[in-house]
Amino acid sequence: MAATNYAHIVGWGIALPETVMTNEDLAAIVETSDEWIMARTGIKTRRIANDRESTATLGLKAAQQALDVADILPIELDLIIVATSTPESIFPSTASLIQDWLGAGSAGAFDLSAACSGFVYALDMAAQAIRSGSIKTAIVIGSETMSRVMDWQDRGTCILFGDGAGAVVLQARDTIGGVLSSVLRSDGSGHDLLGIPSVGSLDIQISALALQGRKPFKMHMAGGEVFKFATRVIGESLEQAAIKAGITLRDLKLIVPHQANERIIQAAARQLDLDRQLFMTNLEHYGNTSAASIPIALVEAIQQGRVTENDYIALVGFGGGLTWASIIVQWSGPLGENRFGPQRRQFTYALAAWRARLRRFIRRYTDLFNRIRPKHGRMLRLRKRIEQRINDI
Ligand code: UT7
Repeated sequence: MAATNYAHIVGWGIALPETVMTNEDLAAIVETSDEWIMARTGIKTRRIANDRESTATLGLKAAQQALDVADILPIELDLIIVATSTPESIFPSTASLIQDWLGAGSAGAFDLSAACSGFVYALDMAAQAIRSGSIKTAIVIGSETMSRVMDWQDRGTCILFGDGAGAVVLQARDTIGGVLSSVLRSDGSGHDLLGIPSVGSLDIQISALALQGRKPFKMHMAGGEVFKFATRVIGESLEQAAIKAGITLRDLKLIVPHQANERIIQAAARQLDLDRQLFMTNLEHYGNTSAASIPIALVEAIQQGRVTENDYIALVGFGGGLTWASIIVQWSGPLGENRFGPQRRQFTYALAAWRARLRRFIRRYTDLFNRIRPKHGRMLRLRKRIEQRINDI
């Protein structure tokens, strides 16, 4: 193990659906108003995925942008983590799909479920793998299509959420910096406060959903309770993470909180006696995009020039589980070396698509052949040889 590995953020990207849903649009669906939503949440618009967009396609777009900024090839990735509560399917993982589309043939891939804290959890997992020396390069994606799990009759939740994705590339360097410390926490006693009843859910098995006023695969939330929990844990976990990093909150140049509610952010700033301007917010435009909200806000902060080299920044997430998490990062930025350029990656993506098609074709036809002549091993051997060749491309 190399003791000098530090996990630096060297690339970033976001993907947002084009369709904008305003508070006025929502007022046509449920009994609400622009004034109520703005006053109670600070949200004005949110983005909604169209029929061709999904958690995987948005995540892929954000990941490709992040690889462009880092100027690395997908084959250099060792690990892909997608933090999401709205995965493409329960399994296989959304991360595996993105791995295939990118052509990241050397990467492990999995989804991580920690609701709105998911991105911070995932960033910590990837950073720890880099710090331990077990991997060199990882991509961490937060991607959600919350619109697909909204109960569009529940004005207490449907006005809050939106769709989108954000991603960062983490890479090992021997210079001090990158992810310095983390605090991950959970309080499962609050698991009933916020969630999406799903396959295997005890609620569904005992048909108790209707009694609780809940719907399968639709999100429910006890907003007031979650609000109180959020205002309590933000300050607490930021302070713990800062102590672990050997800094104070006064050293921070930027705090990127989960974008749930403007009032939660204001309360956290007051509690910590910090300037509200230290907190990055863009929830006015995108609402709460769950695990995607922190990377989207981080990328926009970078694009606005709010972070420069060596700045200390903090990310803080909170949500279903209950879960909450904070991370302190010493900012470094991309390597600044021009290694490959975007065309080379575009070629890799096209090749990956053909490789996947060819693999599926070979699987289908060798299986068919083997069913007709079960003992015939020649076709299997041929399949193995062809697959080996495809892997080598
Ligand atoms: O991402 C995970 C973390 N999630 C969060 O952090 C969300 C935390 N919670 C919140 O942000 C807030 O609790 C909400 C924005 C969800 C709700 O705001 P609130 O100030 O806690 O409102 P409330 O639920 O106490 O409701 C106040 C009133 C109620 O009417 P009555 O009973 O006082 O007559 C609600 O029925 O506002 C009513 N109300 C609405 N009115 C218009 C609730 N939702 C709406 C609405 N439009 N959309």
